[in-house]
Amino acid sequence: MNIVLLGAPGAGKGTQAQRLVEEFGYAHISTGDLLRAAVAAQTPLGVEAKGYMDKGALVPDELVIGLVKERLAEPDAKEGFILDGFPRNLDQARALDAALPELGVKIDAALLVEVAPDVIVERLSSRRVCRTCGYTGTAADAVCPKDGGEMYQRDDDRPETIKNRLDVYRAETEPLLGYYADEDLLVTVDGDRPVDEVYAEVKERLGL
Ligand code: AP5
Repeated sequence: MNIVLLGAPGAGKGTQAQRLVEEFGYAHISTGDLLRAAVAAQTPLGVEAKGYMDKGALVPDELVIGLVKERLAEPDAKEGFILDGFPRNLDQARALDAALPELGVKIDAALLVEVAPDVIVERLSSRRVCRTCGYTGTAADAVCPKDGGEMYQRDDDRPETIKNRLDVYRAETEPLLGYYADEDLLVTVDGDRPVDEVYAEVKERLGL
């Protein structure tokens, strides 16, 4: 199954994707993770992307679209993938639709994890990520529950950046909900419940 994962920053897209990957083995294609890896490796793309990410702005389409097309062409993506954080605007959605036939795949569902803005701010402020394995947890995790690694706070999880990311989401990404509804692919789940409950609904709604 090939899924586009939609939702505001901090809605729980990565958390639900982690579960789906563990249970079904889909390739997890997170543009945020790909970009953060490029920043850490100080590649030319990473150096250019960092300024946008630190402000909570979108990285230019031509950089991100190229990155996703390369990743989708890798063998594991043929067995099913989750696109997490891409597309992020209408131009990216159109570029994806144009690229899919060449790759011989199609999108089966656009899954929206819906959460109210006040919950988002609380979640992002307390999010911590494992420096070793990338596990996403909260400030309550002193060390990573998976491998004991150090938990750190993302640079873009500061309050002023969170606000900007939410503004960008409303202006640029929300129009995608109509785009995927028109394609009859939109599936919405209530993300403001415990992770296990959200995951159970995700599977039910996707027929998994
Ligand atoms: P990206 O990494 O994609 O960030 P995002 O979309 O803002 O999403 P997040 O990773 O912040 O949140 P999430 O929904 O995955 O939530 P999570 O599961 O972690 O993008 C970062 C930046 O990269 C962008 O700002 C942009 O600059 C750039 N970028 C990326 N893609 C791009 C693109 N396509 N085009 C251009 N630029 C791009 O959960 C959050 C917290 O909540 C965690 O602590 C988690 O433990 C907790 N939580 C999760 N679910 C629940 C629950 N049900 N109940 C309670 N707590 C929960």
